Amino acid sequence: MAESTLNPEKLPAHVAIIMDGNGRWAKKKGRPRSFGHKAGVEALREIIKMSDELGIKALTVYAFSTENWKRSAEEVGALMGLLLEYFRRELEELNRKNVRICILGDIDGMPKGTEKQKAALHQAIEKTQTNTGLILNIAINYGGQQEIVRAAQSLARKAAQGLIRPEEITTESMEAEMYTAGEPKVDLIIRTSGELRLSNFLLWQCAYAEFYITDTLWPDFDRKQYALALEAYAGRNRRFGGV
Ligand code: FPP
Repeated sequence: MAESTLNPEKLPAHVAIIMDGNGRWAKKKGRPRSFGHKAGVEALREIIKMSDELGIKALTVYAFSTENWKRSAEEVGALMGLLLEYFRRELEELNRKNVRICILGDIDGMPKGTEKQKAALHQAIEKTQTNTGLILNIAINYGGQQEIVRAAQSLARKAAQGLIRPEEITTESMEAEMYTAGEPKVDLIIRTSGELRLSNFLLWQCAYAEFYITDTLWPDFDRKQYALALEAYAGRNRRFGGV
């Protein structure tokens, strides 16, 4: 499968990726887990580039979940270091390419010691907020259930203030409270490394998403692998609950 043969009319508007398998990739090579994450960042750079070239509207990647803080201090530190390095290295170029960076997740709820990361995330959002090209959503300190609770709390507050009536709460008003408000729904969700789980990722947004699972570990997920996923998506018959 070559990317040049992809039908532009059958591309997903919004792709979400669970970039799994960095640790196993590193272990297979006898290297520390952080080595896998570093390679994972390189894979991510290429997938962002290809998404931009193909004219995909939104790409969401799961970089760090609310549960990932449970990992060893060493691994959390390595991931936080990579995050900082990523924005230092890539922000200018992403901005030049008209990419709009959005962060899905609770930035301000990140623990003590991550002040530099918080500042870098806010800076990336501000610098690119008026860009009109690829929307790059990076999920950090993110949980899908937490996102839905946050939306419910916001609507409950509005109801308590008398701004809306409970009956006026609809899927559309919930949608408007999500981190991804205004973006296309997720069409395709890719998970690498063969795991068959959603892992608290985009629970709301993936209501009708097509699933693509590959055994490939994330650092090995390259342009060819991405083209295969997009090709598989192009062949799906989406019915959205209809027949
Ligand atoms: C899952 O693999 C991967 C993660 C928890 C982190 C994903 C992060 C990156 C690819 C890099 C950081 C991102 C940015 C934007 C700089 P795993 O560690 O669970 O692998 P395993 O299942 O094989 O142990």
